[in-house]
Amino acid sequence: MQYRSTFLKGLAGIALGMFSLSASVSVYSGVGEGQELYNAYCQICHGGLGEGQQMGKPLTDSTANRLTDEGLLSVITQGRSGTGMAAWGGSLSDIEIFDVASYIRNLQGKPAMILDDGDSGPSDDPLVLAGEQLFNNSAACVTCHTYGENGGSVGPKLDGLSSRLSDDALLQAVLSPSATIVSGFETKIVEQNDGTQVRGRYRNDSDLAVQIQSEDGRRWVTYFKDRVKSITDSAESLMPDTYASLGAVEQEQLLAFLKSL
Ligand code: HEC
Ligand code: HEC
Repeated sequence: MQYRSTFLKGLAGIALGMFSLSASVSVYSGVGEGQELYNAYCQICHGGLGEGQQMGKPLTDSTANRLTDEGLLSVITQGRSGTGMAAWGGSLSDIEIFDVASYIRNLQGKPAMILDDGDSGPSDDPLVLAGEQLFNNSAACVTCHTYGENGGSVGPKLDGLSSRLSDDALLQAVLSPSATIVSGFETKIVEQNDGTQVRGRYRNDSDLAVQIQSEDGRRWVTYFKDRVKSITDSAESLMPDTYASLGAVEQEQLLAFLKSL
């Protein structure tokens, strides 16, 4: 997986170089440019007309049709972790992503994308607002997760979550965090020579040392391997079972907030 994504990035880099040569000739932008981008980068997995290929799903089926404009932009920008769908935010500009998304709407036989349809502003749904309060206060999710500008880095950023995870996957992520662990957020346990154990997010590893971000997110600690008794992988997520312990009303509020991201 690691291999494949580095390879693809390299490939995208090469293709991007080729594209900018040809793009300097054309002056139009919008759907036409989106089509060129699509053919250069997306067609190989999604098919010439979005019908799907072995390595990628159709972009004209009901699932893809149901994506909101924001959701569509977010999948292209951030990818879907754990699948062949890479994050294109690093290789394509916002405008290019918008153009390619508009072209996908075109393939779906839908009207063009509408920028800023009001969805992106703060929600005024009371359920969502109550969920946001929980997230930031009593449920303390914000100590480990960032959305927008706020939050910690022990867990993944939650922006665009609802377009990355299906409703089922979201429910599983909050109900049983250890069932699947987001790659890059694995837990390591370091046992020191004096017997004390430290649990945290694994950040870096070398022949000599391993670096762990403490569970509260505040410290990054380097442990030299000759001074620790053992370093083990843990199959248990760093994320506590807070959600499962909430009442039904609070669960509903928190879930509404997560789905609004
Ligand atoms: C290496 C293959 C590959 C390439 C290249 C690729 N994708 Fe994908 N894409 C996938 C896979 C696989 C999925 C399904 C992910 C999943 O299981 O949720 C996907 C999902 C998507 C989705 C979500 C569809 C849905 O129904 O939820 C969109 C939108 C999308 N890709 C757009 C693009 C665009 C735009 C590009 C080019 C900039 C692109 N993809 C390039 C493999 C690829
Ligand atoms: C001590 C840190 C910590 C706290 C507190 C915490 N999480 Fe997490 N969370 C993580 C880590 C680490 C992961 C990634 C590992 C995994 O998949 O379990 C994660 C994963 C997730 C995911 C999946 C994200 C994805 O991209 O697939 C969701 C959703 C989530 N957390 C929601 C919450 C909610 C809601 C709360 C509050 C009730 C919360 N978390 C509290 C650390 C935390």
